[in-house]
Amino acid sequence: MKLWGGRFRKNADERAASFTASLSFDRRLYPQDLQGSRAHARMLGRCGILSEADVAAILGGLDQVEVEIAGGTFPWRPELEDIHTNVERRLTELIGPAGGRLHTARSRNDQVALDMHLYMKEVLAGVIAWVRRVQGVIVDRAEQHLGVVMPGYTHLQRAQPILFSHHLMAYFWMLERDHARLAGCLNRTDQSPLGAGALAGTSFPIDRGMVADELGLAGIYENSIDAVSDRDFLLEFLADASILMVHLSRLGEEIVLWSTAEFGYVELDDAFATGSSIMPQKKNPDVAELVRGKAGRVFGNLVGLLSTVKGLPLAYHSDLQEDKEAVFEAVDTIEAVLEVTAGMLATLQVKEKVMADAAGGGFSTATEVADYLARRGMPFRQAHEVVGRLVLHCLERGRSLTDLDLADFRGFSEAFEADIVEAVKPETAAAAKTSAGGAAPERVAEQIAAAKRRLGAG
Ligand code: ARG
Repeated sequence: MKLWGGRFRKNADERAASFTASLSFDRRLYPQDLQGSRAHARMLGRCGILSEADVAAILGGLDQVEVEIAGGTFPWRPELEDIHTNVERRLTELIGPAGGRLHTARSRNDQVALDMHLYMKEVLAGVIAWVRRVQGVIVDRAEQHLGVVMPGYTHLQRAQPILFSHHLMAYFWMLERDHARLAGCLNRTDQSPLGAGALAGTSFPIDRGMVADELGLAGIYENSIDAVSDRDFLLEFLADASILMVHLSRLGEEIVLWSTAEFGYVELDDAFATGSSIMPQKKNPDVAELVRGKAGRVFGNLVGLLSTVKGLPLAYHSDLQEDKEAVFEAVDTIEAVLEVTAGMLATLQVKEKVMADAAGGGFSTATEVADYLARRGMPFRQAHEVVGRLVLHCLERGRSLTDLDLADFRGFSEAFEADIVEAVKPETAAAAKTSAGGAAPERVAEQIAAAKRRLGAG
């Protein structure tokens, strides 16, 4: 029998019932559903809407339901559509008519919205903690390898020497913005929709603030229609998770590239790599590839839910039931990706010498030579031209800037002096980038210190 037996002459068609059911996925909300029901029942008691005896019976029954679900003995009935109805039906079986009073002054519309708020608060706290852990690993690795130069790239061509730590720390700050976004999302999630009823509120003398307080929610929705129609907090999470996945995917891509023989900058720990079923020599970066690959799912869930909500008139529609699978899949994905990224980064072998050697090649200090001339009065445009000719000279002879002696340099400009030989070394070039946020080791050390202060602040 359905919740709405009175109005109907026949049972739902089986196909219709299984098509509309959400139990297979919303079962995961059972802890929040029980938590919300307990708070609602207590409030009904305190407001004199239910007798204390009924409230006591309901709370005892909900405890029993929890024991059954946790212990795997709960009689799940998919024909009862969703988690809310399964719990309520079982409660009524266990305690009799008092069970039927739990739903006084409540609708599944505000109930499910509350469940999702409670669920998301937990999820967001967990994801935020994982972001912090990945940031912690980044800081550790940056500190451990401070001083190692590598080529910095633009257009994936060697551009200017930087420090490996500097490059890695760029990801710290990306994740710092993710952290702030997720924390903002958590603040906006921290509201109770309960008491909105189906959409209009209720004529029972409820106290919405009491429920919010008991559940540790910071406030209540001001508008009952908004309360049951709003899925912004889920869209925001999916958007924040998507941007986070963009960052982790870019890092995954770099690790894939760096672990090729062509780059050779890193070697994945055996525990975070895979072999090939046919090619015995292979060590594949599957973990990094899937960190990159799974981004698409999260983006898909964001676009899916945006599309679901976009044309919906107020207030509740069953379309909104589609929020759950999108969010649950994104949550599972982002948690797994953060966890594995932390492990992969913590165990990555960094080939310091390969990076440093690469930093010396590819004329990555050519800008430094142009700057050198500019500092000695030559207009930068002219200096650029002179150094371009110098690079061409080297290319034609298979030499690099670090192979040249003072006489070679002076063949291109009288402004060169003995110190140019030192200035073209990649370590010197990186060390010269002392502007705030730049590649110089002391600047990178400063940002590592600033990052640690952020982590320490929570
Ligand atoms: N399973 C539903 C959902 O997830 C619960 C709310 C149902 N409300 C309704 N009026 N059909 O959204």
